[in-house]
Amino acid sequence: MTDLKSPDPERLDYEASVAAAKGEVRRLLKSAPALIRPMTSHLARAAGKMIRARTLLACALGRDGSVSPDAVKAAAAVELLHLATLVHDDILDDAETRRGIDALHRKFGDKYAVLCGDFLFCTAIEFVSTADAPEHRKNAVDRSVPKYLTEVLMGELRQDQNYKNYSLSEREYFRIIKGKTAALFEASFYAGFLFSDEEDAAKDSYREIGDTIGLIFQLNDDCADYEASELLTKKPVLSDYSRGVVTLPLIHALKEDPSLIQKVEAGMEPAALKIAVEAAGGLSYTHTKAGRLYKKADTLIESLDIGAYKKALLKTLLRAASGKTA
Ligand code: FPP
Ligand code: MG
Repeated sequence: MTDLKSPDPERLDYEASVAAAKGEVRRLLKSAPALIRPMTSHLARAAGKMIRARTLLACALGRDGSVSPDAVKAAAAVELLHLATLVHDDILDDAETRRGIDALHRKFGDKYAVLCGDFLFCTAIEFVSTADAPEHRKNAVDRSVPKYLTEVLMGELRQDQNYKNYSLSEREYFRIIKGKTAALFEASFYAGFLFSDEEDAAKDSYREIGDTIGLIFQLNDDCADYEASELLTKKPVLSDYSRGVVTLPLIHALKEDPSLIQKVEAGMEPAALKIAVEAAGGLSYTHTKAGRLYKKADTLIESLDIGAYKKALLKTLLRAASGKTA
């Protein structure tokens, strides 16, 4: 008689798990209580890239090449948490659009958008609580959700307190983006690890890769604000500067060209600032930083004791978060 365990029929391959998480997000949005459904249905019209869910599922991939349905729940929850932060962020930023359609608060007003964001937070937390993590990791899942959300919140608060602070240091900038963006990436990597069959010793590597990829993602987003066309990013360009958010390309430009600070404080036109930031090397400096972090994440992924397929998936996601074609 063989003692080989028969495969769990509920476990999915990676691509099927991504599709399942996408389906769960849609289902949760579409099955909201009638009072809130007009808002969640609006959000369901524009799906995101699911990069956080994809990373969670890639990290959760077991040695048998399959993902547990519990990890799918966690992946859907992380996307809903992300969506909740975006709904609230768009109110704070008074954004016009999100993912190419009207921002929620533009259509329904701030009051309903706040409540809808809160609803999404609650739905995500309730949904992830139905996911069964391996027994010895249950507490870690319970504790990490509020911990990471607090980090996101603190990052956003720090950013807000530094509006138009043209003496913002690079160090403080990294502290801001570590919270507002990298924390949720780290959470996705950590949650994926918790739902996987990886050894406990790999925990810190997973967290560090998530944090690093989150930083790269935000550095590229901050460059895109100076570089990209609105058509490409589906976001208004130079919106950071226009609303007083100081990011690394500008921080570096201000350091290289001290004459810039007076012009910026006097309300320099965005088009002129774009040229000045480029000329002072703000964009190339930021890309170099992102490049170094890319190498760090790549090396960390390489060091994981995982199969070739899982490694390739993580590297594809690293490229995607870095804005390189996958
Ligand atoms: C987008 O930044 C915003 C975030 C990544 C986080 C926003 C977080 C909050 C509003 C706090 C939410 C509350 C809790 C409890 C976690 P961005 O404005 O730079 O990017 P964008 O261009 O996509 O708007
Ligand atoms: Mg915003």
